[in-house]
Amino acid sequence: MSKISNDIMLKKKKKIQHYSAVFSLMVGVGFLSNVANASDNDLTYLEEMGKRLFFEKISLSRNMSCSTCHTADTGGTNGDSDTNLVQVAVTGSDGVMVGNLKPPTNKYAQFLNEVGDPEGLKLFDVACSGFAPAPCGGAFWNGRAEGDLIETVHNIDVFAGLNSKYESMYKKYLGPVADQAHASPFINPLEQAKDDKFKVCTQVRGTTWGRQLYQYAWGEHLYCSYRQVDEIFARFAVALSAWQMSSDNNRFDSKRDIALKNDYDGLFPFDDFTDQENEGHDLFYGQARCFFCHQSGNNNGVGKFERYTNDFYFNIGVPRNHKIPNDPAPDVGLFDTTSNSDHLGEHKVPTLRNVDKRPSPYFVKAYTHNGWFKSLEQIVHFYNTATVKDTCYTQST
Ligand code: HEC
Ligand code: HEC
Repeated sequence: MSKISNDIMLKKKKKIQHYSAVFSLMVGVGFLSNVANASDNDLTYLEEMGKRLFFEKISLSRNMSCSTCHTADTGGTNGDSDTNLVQVAVTGSDGVMVGNLKPPTNKYAQFLNEVGDPEGLKLFDVACSGFAPAPCGGAFWNGRAEGDLIETVHNIDVFAGLNSKYESMYKKYLGPVADQAHASPFINPLEQAKDDKFKVCTQVRGTTWGRQLYQYAWGEHLYCSYRQVDEIFARFAVALSAWQMSSDNNRFDSKRDIALKNDYDGLFPFDDFTDQENEGHDLFYGQARCFFCHQSGNNNGVGKFERYTNDFYFNIGVPRNHKIPNDPAPDVGLFDTTSNSDHLGEHKVPTLRNVDKRPSPYFVKAYTHNGWFKSLEQIVHFYNTATVKDTCYTQST
């Protein structure tokens, strides 16, 4: 073998070793959360209402809840291994209709910090600074839950007729996560498929928790009148947002979080990490340049509330997934929200928190918007070898 090809072989070998360290950082529970649900006593009435709405089967056939597609033991994404392996998108409550996207996690989008202020995902903005002005923020793979839709587009005053204290307490929960819930899986035929807002309201009113928590949280009885149903439905969305933003849903308790807390200087390498996990960190923030997109704070991975996403949009060139039922055309992503053809196929950078969380080692998770990748090895191999479309991402060797 010539010297040159020998060098290439060596480099390749080194690269593969390096990437298996990145992989091990993620698998080595670096991004894995493992504590069971906290007591409901820690929740406010509004958060508790949101939690009940999230887990209650409010759907056409009363067989599906938000948690069907966002389960805790997979870190907030789909809870059925066979679905992840093949069709990726979850069949709706009617047992027939299927969307074309893998459920992203509902965790670590927005959360409340120590002083109770919202952090994380911002309102959708078509020209965020950071890169040559580019879109960032908003919920969904394409950002269409922009964060001001309930009030501006739908023109709903959530606080109409209520004591003004509710507005000052709850205004922080309006935003992309509330817009997502209002969008709404409850009545989307591809998801929970309940006929309309009124039917959602009457199902909730039919429960003791629904009537009680609504009254405690909003200071008035839950009456499902057609006149008020828009406000009530938006208040359900605010409650869902409140719980999804609570520490019950965003634990920040992964092995990495604990290692950070325990570390004597709070800097890498972490005492509690294996050498391979620490090396994975160095690659993630160095040669492999993952931090370029998967970083929310500029802190070399030691921020307490790091979410591993910058909330921008990119097209990393994920192959088309023909196994999604009806073989839909590739998802246009951000283009759907901006109608700008430069944004075709761009998808929101997902958080990497919980990315390896699964109920058993045999449980298959699907990765990226169309679930093409079935393991972290596959996606790291892809980054290692593919020519990535976005020009801002140049692979280093
Ligand atoms: C049938 C499966 C399904 C159900 C049921 C479902 N979701 Fe989702 N969820 C998805 C999919 C798929 C997406 C991505 C859709 C998109 O990007 O267009 C998503 C996106 C989200 C997001 C956006 C995350 C982000 O970072 O952008 C949140 C939050 C969320 N869902 C919360 C909920 C809530 C709350 C409910 C119940 C009211 C719910 N989901 C019910 C499948 C589901
Ligand atoms: C140019 C920005 C960018 C860089 C750099 C980047 N990623 Fe990503 N990553 C994305 C985007 C965008 C997606 C979602 C793509 C899609 O769904 O089409 C993604 C998806 C992922 C996912 C799937 C997560 C999920 O829940 O589906 C993993 C894991 C991941 N990236 C890890 C990495 C690692 C490891 C590196 C470094 C080797 C890296 N990424 C570098 C933008 C980037």
